[in-house]
Amino acid sequence: MENIQNRINYLRKELARHNNLYYDKNSPEISDSEYDSLVKELEQLELENPLFASLNSPTQKVSGVVSSSFERVKHSLPMLSLDNTYSQEETAKWYERVEKRLKNENVEFTVEPKIDGVSASLTYLNGALIIGATRGDGEIGENITENIKAIQSIPHKLKINNPPAFFELRGEVYIDKTDFEKLNEDIIKADGQKFANPRNAASGSLRQKDAHITAERKLSFFVHSFGKIEGKQFQKQSEFLQFCKECGFVLQDDFKICHSLKEISDFMRVMLSRRDLLQYEIDGLVIKVNSLPFQNELGYTNKSPRWAIAFKFPAKQATTQLNKIRVQVGRTGIITPSAILEPVALAGVTISHATLHNFEEIERLNVNEGDIVLIERAGDVIPKIVKVVKKEREGFFKPPHNCQSCGSEIVKESEGEVAYRCINPECPAQFRRHLIHFVSRNAMDIDGFGSAVIDQLLERNKIKTLADIYNLTYSDFIDLELFKEKKANNLVEAIVKSKRQPLSRLLFALGIRHIGEKSSEIIAKRFRNIEVLFSASIEEFTEILEIGEVLALSLKKFFGNKTVRHVVDTLIAAGVNMTEPESEQYGTLFEGQLFILTGKLEHYTREQAGEIIKSFGGRITSSVSKKIDYALAGADAGSRLEKAKKLNIKIINEQEFEELVKQ
Ligand code: IVH
Repeated sequence: MENIQNRINYLRKELARHNNLYYDKNSPEISDSEYDSLVKELEQLELENPLFASLNSPTQKVSGVVSSSFERVKHSLPMLSLDNTYSQEETAKWYERVEKRLKNENVEFTVEPKIDGVSASLTYLNGALIIGATRGDGEIGENITENIKAIQSIPHKLKINNPPAFFELRGEVYIDKTDFEKLNEDIIKADGQKFANPRNAASGSLRQKDAHITAERKLSFFVHSFGKIEGKQFQKQSEFLQFCKECGFVLQDDFKICHSLKEISDFMRVMLSRRDLLQYEIDGLVIKVNSLPFQNELGYTNKSPRWAIAFKFPAKQATTQLNKIRVQVGRTGIITPSAILEPVALAGVTISHATLHNFEEIERLNVNEGDIVLIERAGDVIPKIVKVVKKEREGFFKPPHNCQSCGSEIVKESEGEVAYRCINPECPAQFRRHLIHFVSRNAMDIDGFGSAVIDQLLERNKIKTLADIYNLTYSDFIDLELFKEKKANNLVEAIVKSKRQPLSRLLFALGIRHIGEKSSEIIAKRFRNIEVLFSASIEEFTEILEIGEVLALSLKKFFGNKTVRHVVDTLIAAGVNMTEPESEQYGTLFEGQLFILTGKLEHYTREQAGEIIKSFGGRITSSVSKKIDYALAGADAGSRLEKAKKLNIKIINEQEFEELVKQ
């Protein structure tokens, strides 16, 4: 019994602490679903042990606090919260309860997004906005009228004739995903502390003492419910929302009226799959009985309405321990940290790794091994660490002094650079990564030469240089794990085939810093033979329109390196092709001429027209400059055409182009 009482006390204290972190500090340590499971546990214990029940328990109150820095406002009617469900089954049970209580099987429901923002109440007196308030503890909120007025999409005057005498509507203040990213970028530039999520950003921006700051942040408002209304009557929630639209509020399209559980479930599935595509962050859907008389009939518990339920989506955030920071050496020597986590369930999968990007990020997060961290999985597959929730070890994790693979010194090549590198060109870890890149699909494309094969060959000392790939034979493969005759033969064939890859792919495979696939192609087409590259000057590189100074310097440094000369010589000896084949050329009509393509063509796609130009010796660019000889303009050509006109570039249309080519 004492244990139960202790647990109840502990849960009450913990919930009060998390409430404070969430509502007042804008800095939650646990996800909503983790919070809800604490509430559920407490509710269950209180139910089973009525002796310990208390009206002061967080299970009996609407969460939230009233901050002292704003004036207080009493809400005309309490602002309640919603009951949550996390599964289709629980939702179905709620649905059945509603129908049973109403003794009606044809109840209409609205399904609305549950936008993750901050709730606010707006009071209009005879159509004029007079009070904007936060929810506070549900009874009393903070007066944030000036901040509310600073939100662009909130009308200061309702845009209708004969507005209701008293109209208190409620909704969510939120920030769009893109505006959130932009805001955080600006904050980081100004050396500030970025917001962990859009909800925190909205809340932080709304509760600014200086409403000018609120005005600068791009906040939006979403109407979802109402308090006291005088001088207007509605029959349905959907009718109320439509009226708000007429009054000048922006309504979301992602809203549906449903007539059956199946319709609700289908819409839930659609929204769940579209979640990451929406412009705003939603943490679930709110299902409401549409008819207001039915809502009245169902009434309220002391915390939430019986006529609505929030179906919460799987959490995207969770807390766990960061067990280890792993440091890996990439093919260019850059060392990248990543986090190995105590496995935790998140949005339906078990997570055990998170990205850390670079050592600056580690410093910014002030994270170290052993710390308890909040992780988030947003859109992307690999989760990221949002913040440290509890520090277990002083300070942050520092980059190692030496490469774990070869022991060489780890350095930052220049001060402005973020990356730390192992600069030993013979570092085995770098070489392994380079091999993986060299054989990859977009490089030399050796099918079947995956990292498992590479690891086994490295272990057996079969590859020490890139050229060694070309000396491998059937007998080297046949005793590798999972290799049989056919697979070994296929791999030998793929290796032989890759010797004929054009220079463009070889350049990309060699892994020249800053030189990607596209630049490799441009360089190969221009120089045709690798020998020419060894003797080319920086000026010869920069003559190519697409090659700027950074790329030119990188090329010069690469081809001036003795090790590179040696690597290329061994590849030549192994029979690897070093030239770029001539592309099919019909003529020299556009030799040396630069084109820009803009607008929609009738007979070809822009890519096809580009190929025609190239086959006559011309080149294509995508940015307008004085160097351009022709602008080929199709229908609806926009700003590029305008710019080209200003620069006096010769503009031709599709017909003129065809005539030129026909000659
Ligand atoms: S209806 C009686 N509809 O979620 C409560 N609330 O967890 C009436 N929320 O405090 C609220 N989207 O701030 C409603 N479509 C929506 C909502 C929504 C977000 C918020 C609201 C509420 C909280 C409850």
